[in-house]
Amino acid sequence: MEKQKTYALINYGCQMNESDTEHYAGQLKELGYEAIADFHDADVIIVNTCCVRESAEKKIAGKIGELKAVKVKNPDVVICVAGCMAQKDGEKLLKKHPQVDILLGTSYVNDFKQLLLDFLQTRKKGLYTSLEIRDAEFEGHRVRQSPFHAWIPIMYGCNNFCTYCIVPYVRGRERSRSVENIVEEIKQAVKEGYKEFTLLGQNVDSYGKQTGDKEAFAKLLRTCNEIEGVERLHYMTSHPRDMVEAVIEAVRDCEHVCESFHLPFQAGSNEILRRMNRGYTKEKYLELIETVRKHVPNAVITTDIIVGFPGETEEDFEETLDVVKKARFDSAYTFIYSKRSGTPAARMENQVPLDVKKDRLNRLMALQNEISLANHEKMVGDTVEVMADGPSKHPGVWNGRTRTGILVLWPTEGKTYELGQKVNVKIDTAQTWLLKGKAID
Ligand code: SAH
Ligand code: SF4
Ligand code: F3S
Repeated sequence: MEKQKTYALINYGCQMNESDTEHYAGQLKELGYEAIADFHDADVIIVNTCCVRESAEKKIAGKIGELKAVKVKNPDVVICVAGCMAQKDGEKLLKKHPQVDILLGTSYVNDFKQLLLDFLQTRKKGLYTSLEIRDAEFEGHRVRQSPFHAWIPIMYGCNNFCTYCIVPYVRGRERSRSVENIVEEIKQAVKEGYKEFTLLGQNVDSYGKQTGDKEAFAKLLRTCNEIEGVERLHYMTSHPRDMVEAVIEAVRDCEHVCESFHLPFQAGSNEILRRMNRGYTKEKYLELIETVRKHVPNAVITTDIIVGFPGETEEDFEETLDVVKKARFDSAYTFIYSKRSGTPAARMENQVPLDVKKDRLNRLMALQNEISLANHEKMVGDTVEVMADGPSKHPGVWNGRTRTGILVLWPTEGKTYELGQKVNVKIDTAQTWLLKGKAID
């Protein structure tokens, strides 16, 4: 009997990367490979990379370095580096890490299977980094991480060119999948038992822009809401400049579209926002938050914030704190500005010293943590619908998420639960990052 061929996937970065990794897994499965946990023993290793911040790149470069020893031990192993860092560094990365066999840019996810077969036949290194627009439609299938939650990319790329951000350079121009192609994938996933879906794009509000319809994304939400078997529908990421009221109304009206909004504001100072090329002001952003709260009073709003953008003064930073106080986010992803070479902000003067950036980050996190806790404390006594994610690290305790994505822990008290099962939990304890309670029947 022939030996079972195996693969290992090492994933970094955002949800889009996770989704791409699930597609690599699908293609490897079609070729007869099986997943194994320890990459040291795999026949094919894919590292799917991210370069959004320097810290991510450093960690990933270390991991790719580790693979050198794997190649020495097993010269037949196929090592593929894919994703945004592969796209950015191209040949330079291949030169630095000669153990890499295939370097796969972000436009080649759909072609991986064929490119792997080519490599196995020729054993000639492959370098694929063209960003020429290719078909956005999805064919094939994904091997998903979760048995009940599915990532569904609806568009790829980004045209926004926020001045700090590398993504538009490594993911290319925006292109959207057709509604039919998206609906077909969701229906197929429903057949396989999936019930929770997240529609993905760097800027979902630009979905279908080429059609000239500013409400194309709102319509897509309404269409997906109608698909039989879809129990929870999420989406990310929204851009405050582009989010139209029709999207908020769709969230309000659609039973399965969950009432959470991820609305990155990045910075509170209008001058910084202008230099970031974000296309909105602090006032406009806060108005948008008000509109969300008006239509969806129980909305959970989360955000992304960058501290220490070039030229950010103490006064500018205080504007950021002011937005946090006014918007009262449920949680925030907070980042220290990281210089990305090739982006306009990297060439700006007055880069902020690291100790100042760190100090601002700490103050920002302390404020947000206080607000997160206060928001969660208001939920004590409520009964929330949780979708079970599995056992937590504490024995006898399971965890899951509310419709709005808040983590909830509850003791099983001898009962058994299934992954993806809906459980009503009465909240009795609030913490900054999570809620605790008891399951009620
Ligand atoms: N398209 C999404 C996600 C982009 S990356 C969006 O626009 O929201 C996720 C987050 O990383 C961004 O929202 C931003 O807050 C942060 N980020 C991007 N580039 C960065 C950089 N150079 N330094 C620090 N944080 C950065
Ligand atoms: Fe980057 Fe801005 Fe595009 Fe988001 S919208 S991916 S932050 S350029
Ligand atoms: Fe990173 Fe690329 Fe996503 S740079 S955040 S993996 S789009």
